Amino acid sequence: MNDLNRFRELLEKSCGLVFENEKTLLLEAGIRARMAVRSVCSADNYLSILNTQRDELSELIETLTVNETYFFRDVNHFTLLSANVVPELLGHVKTSGRLTFLSAGCSTGEEAYSILISLAECFGREDVRGMTVIGVDIDSRAIKRAKEGVFGGRSFRDFPDDLRKRYFDEISPGVWRVREWLRESVSFLPLNLLAGTYPPELSEVDVIFYRNVSIYFSHEVRKGIFNRLAGIMKEGGYLFVSPSETFFHNRSVLSIVALEGAFLFRKEAGRRKAGECGTREMRCGHAAGKPAVARPSPQPKSLGSIRGDVPNRRIACTSDPEPALPGTKAALQICAGEHYETLAQLDRVIESSPDSILAHTLKGLIQMKLSMLNDAQASFRKVQAFDRFSLDAAFSLGLISRIKGDGLSALEHLRESVYIQPSSWPAHYFLAETHLERGEIEPARREYEIILKILDNGDFHNHGLTDAPFTFSATELETLCRRKLQTLKRASNGA
Ligand SMILES: C[S@@+](CC[C@H](N)C(=O)[O-])C[C@H]1O[C@@H](n2cnc3c(N)ncnc32)[C@H](O)[C@@H]1O
Repeated sequence: MNDLNRFRELLEKSCGLVFENEKTLLLEAGIRARMAVRSVCSADNYLSILNTQRDELSELIETLTVNETYFFRDVNHFTLLSANVVPELLGHVKTSGRLTFLSAGCSTGEEAYSILISLAECFGREDVRGMTVIGVDIDSRAIKRAKEGVFGGRSFRDFPDDLRKRYFDEISPGVWRVREWLRESVSFLPLNLLAGTYPPELSEVDVIFYRNVSIYFSHEVRKGIFNRLAGIMKEGGYLFVSPSETFFHNRSVLSIVALEGAFLFRKEAGRRKAGECGTREMRCGHAAGKPAVARPSPQPKSLGSIRGDVPNRRIACTSDPEPALPGTKAALQICAGEHYETLAQLDRVIESSPDSILAHTLKGLIQMKLSMLNDAQASFRKVQAFDRFSLDAAFSLGLISRIKGDGLSALEHLRESVYIQPSSWPAHYFLAETHLERGEIEPARREYEIILKILDNGDFHNHGLTDAPFTFSATELETLCRRKLQTLKRASNGA
């Protein structure tokens, strides 16, 4: 399609969505699908419809964006919210107990309702009445569905049955509606996060969930929205992003806090206003020898039936097992989500055992999470000097090369990774994405198909990485790969 750049400009300008490299195929397929629905034959005509009819622009955006969401997605975040973050914030606002929560890019509302349900489970229904939960999304159809609060089975894939019975009514077989008092406690508004002004109720927010939204944004848009969100947060407030997005965001605007295996952003008191440049700073409560978040009263009840366990991960290492070094076991738990050690502690381990593959690997993984890419590269090269067949090192070096825009080097490291562990689907996935970015359709298609075979063999958990950079379930991964394959097929049929 010759006019693709004009569509790109319109979408980036109006809502920040960027469709480059591999996403070109998705863009083209989406435009063709909408043109067919509207029986429009020329790209010119369709562009003028988009420029004059807001509804059609919304339809196209809905076709191009992914609304995928479900209750308690990344359940660890909701456990942290109610057990750590909210008790800390309540300690600061004892008098009123009023807190405001925002689900930015809330899709059909599951995230916003999950926030309220996790709080109600901890503090009781009466205590959460004073709290305000707001969900916003660019997709007005999704907002309408969020307000209706009616959900089917897929939304409950990670949600305990007993909670479903407590907070929802079954209105027909397999269809559940959020109870009225919950619906009344959450408000939903259509909002483009890129908009010049935000509604007044979003001026002082305590906690923001901004998860799985920034994936389509360009670096500039990502930065702009992150700064905006930081700007509407109260001092001491927290921002949750999905693990795979943590690398992308700007840690000079908000501090990064490591908490129970997750990285959250926090707005420090006296912090520079969002948008002002500042020196790079990273904070970790444990580094200062205290828990990242204190737990003032009221002590929350346990979340009981919420399944918050983070799956155990293992270190993939082809050499002999590591000796038990002081501090190393605890450091390993950083990546297993149980609790933290700091880079400084790992440095002490490395000082006493300079050839500890495990310590260098963990150090590299944490450096990556903190976007210290050159340092991470150096750590993984050390790992490779000890163990040429370390999957963690090969894979991470591949990711770093990708982030740095060096496609050839990324391909080399990622190919090495699938050689070391053929069932490592994250390596196949990034191999596919790298091929796509380079316009190499056939090898990309092969890699997606390999992932489907890995899933078929039941090897989803056999990826071999200490810290896989995704939170997909096997089903989501399968859907994603099938969708990519379909898009590739449609694009090559249309070519
Ligand atoms: C994958 S869903 C994420 C839902 C939820 N946050 C979660 O993690 O489950 C991404 C949502 O971001 C929304 N979105 C994309 N661009 C947006 C923008 N510029 N402003 C507001 N929402 C946007 C999409 O409409 C979609 O509903």
